[in-house]
Formats: sequence, structure tokens, C-alpha cells
Amino acid sequence: MQKGKFITIDGVEGAGKSTQIKFICDYLEAKGINVVLTREPGGTDLGEKIRELLLSTTTKSMHSDSELLLMFAARNEHIHHKIIPALEKGDWVLSDRFTDASYAYQGGGRGLDIERIEHLEHWVLKNFTPDMTLLLDIPVDLGMSRVESRGEKDRIELEDLDFFERVRQAYIDRSEKYPQRIKLIDSSKSREHTSAQIEKILEIL
Ligand code: TMP
Repeated sequence: MQKGKFITIDGVEGAGKSTQIKFICDYLEAKGINVVLTREPGGTDLGEKIRELLLSTTTKSMHSDSELLLMFAARNEHIHHKIIPALEKGDWVLSDRFTDASYAYQGGGRGLDIERIEHLEHWVLKNFTPDMTLLLDIPVDLGMSRVESRGEKDRIELEDLDFFERVRQAYIDRSEKYPQRIKLIDSSKSREHTSAQIEKILEIL
């Protein structure tokens, strides 16, 4: 039985997830909540190995279906070995990305059939969904300019701007489809402006 809350944070590259994750952890911990911070793909030993395969630029060709299946294989490990046990203990879990990223990147970006993603989601997660998803939204060119300044790009970051425009649109579409769960946050301005929007949402959680 789930006692803690499951929060996910997602968005296109360069939207400022890392900074806001720190803000969220500090905010919740100040309220006496024990937060388990994790990420996708990754979060478990096997999941981190799968992440390496997925993001390495030495992995030359990967079929989009294989990419999707690897994301869900890592996710299956993640929920069974990390997320659900933590929630059952009463901890809160904050995941840097989750299933919405598969809809955005593999669905929107790669153009995979949404029904196949839904099928996998149902198979792996049944009805397990985040209590709240914070979707950081930023124009693609602005986000990518932040990525450029970070240095070397991973296999997915090497995609072109059109790919990330489709990813962004797919995220926005999902926030419109699930307005109760997915909160769209404008992260194109200062980090303080983004944090203030997040704080308002966390206050009512
Ligand atoms: P990041 O978490 O450091 O941003 O990197 C993870 C990358 O993996 C990012 O480009 C988004 C991508 N990704 C997918 O394509 N599908 C997924 O389901 C997940 C969780 C991530």
C-alpha cells in the first residue's frame, strides 16, 4: 500500500530540471519529508547500465522500438526495486523523468505509435501513475542553447531541433490531456520565477 507521494519532473533538454530538483528536495525536506531522489532511465544498478547503452554516442544504430523497450525495461526495474518500496515505507519519491518522457521522446520525437506505448505502460505499470508531474516548458532553441553550453551531448541530445519541437509538443499535449496530474511550468525566465511556480503547486499537494 502506497503511503508516500510520487512526484516526477520532466521536460525538454535544457529546461532546468537539475536546479529545480534541488529546490524541490530542499523544500520538502524542510517540511520534514524524507525524499528519495531518482532518475530515468536509471535509478537501479541495472537501470543505470541500460541508461549507458541508451545515451552512449558509441551506440551507433538503435531501432526506435528497441529504444522504447529499453526505457520500459529500465522502468520495470525502477518501480519494483526502488519506487514502490520507498513509497510503501512512507518516503516521497522524486523522479527526474518518467513515462511521460517515453510518450514525448519515443512517441513525439521518434514518431512511434502511441497505442504501442500505452500497451507497454499498461503492461509494466498497470494503473501506477505519479501523484504529480511538474513539466518544465521552454522554447526548444533556448533549451538547446543551455545544453550546448554544458559541453558534450549524449546520443539523444544530438537529435535536431525538429525532433525536440515534436518532443515539446507531445509534452504539451499530455499536459492538456491530464491537467490534474501534469502541471505545465514556464521555465523560460529566471530560476526563481520557475521555483515560485513549483512552490505554489507543492503547497497544495
Ligand atoms: P536526462 O534525464 O539527463 O535529461 O537524459 C535522459 C534522456 O533520455 C533524455 O534525452 C530523455 C530521454 N528519455 C527518453 O527518450 N525516453 C524516456 O522514457 C526517458 C525516461 C528518457
